[in-house]
Amino acid sequence: MSLYDKIQTTKDFIESKIASKPTIGIILGSGLGDLTHAIEIETEIDYADIPNFPVSTVKGHNGCLLFGKMSGCNVMLMAGRFHYYEGYSMEQVTFPVRVMKALGVETLILSNATGATNPGFAIGDLMIIKDHINLFPEHPLRGANDERLGTRFPDMSEAYDHKLIAYAKQVADESGIVVRSGTYVGLQGPTFETPAEYKWLHTIGCDAVGMSTVPEVIVARHGGMRVFAISVITDIGVSDVPVKITHDEVLEAANAAAPKMATLVTGLVKRINTLDPAR
Ligand code: HPA
Repeated sequence: MSLYDKIQTTKDFIESKIASKPTIGIILGSGLGDLTHAIEIETEIDYADIPNFPVSTVKGHNGCLLFGKMSGCNVMLMAGRFHYYEGYSMEQVTFPVRVMKALGVETLILSNATGATNPGFAIGDLMIIKDHINLFPEHPLRGANDERLGTRFPDMSEAYDHKLIAYAKQVADESGIVVRSGTYVGLQGPTFETPAEYKWLHTIGCDAVGMSTVPEVIVARHGGMRVFAISVITDIGVSDVPVKITHDEVLEAANAAAPKMATLVTGLVKRINTLDPAR
């Protein structure tokens, strides 16, 4: 079955279960489950029940799609994402984004946990992603292009929507939340970086590093969605003395920042819904 046909099958299945059409999609990163409380859930579907969906395997990642209202807007939320390091193909990693687009989602909001390569950042900081560098070993659009899904050579000059970034900064100001902004680099993992790698990533222009987001953003842009993404800094890679990092510490730091993240994302959704109701 072609990718296009798989997307249609999954879309038809989901449409048969939901009452209202989502316009905003949200992908939750490690430990950021707080946002699931910010949604008035109408329908919950386990990944295991969705045709063509892979099943998430990592601790701290649930596996379900939530549909409902956030700040008065119809949203769908992926609680748990698929990572390349888990062994999924790029098509599997990005498949949910394709399905979101097919369901009518025009705006995608992503969150993740990252390590800082910018020595000015602190654990618990939120960083709005203003740009990225793709260092994954494989590109999600490699292979024959289906024009029904997007153009062969997508523009990436404004992968992260400037207007959405401005809205998020306004929400942060109003809520007294300090946000930074910076460039995210996506690597395959699953190792955290060596001290030399963190240092090098900073010299090539990155402020934070993680193992997700970039493939999903590329596919969202391919499909013509507008994108907003935000990171929680869970560890600092650049230091004079090497610092050991564990997945549990990453989850702990992400959990601690989750309420701030929830305030920011719900505020952003509200702003989008009020100022840009057409999308
Ligand atoms: N490196 C890569 N991925 C991560 C990190 C990190 O330091 N922290 C959380 N995700």
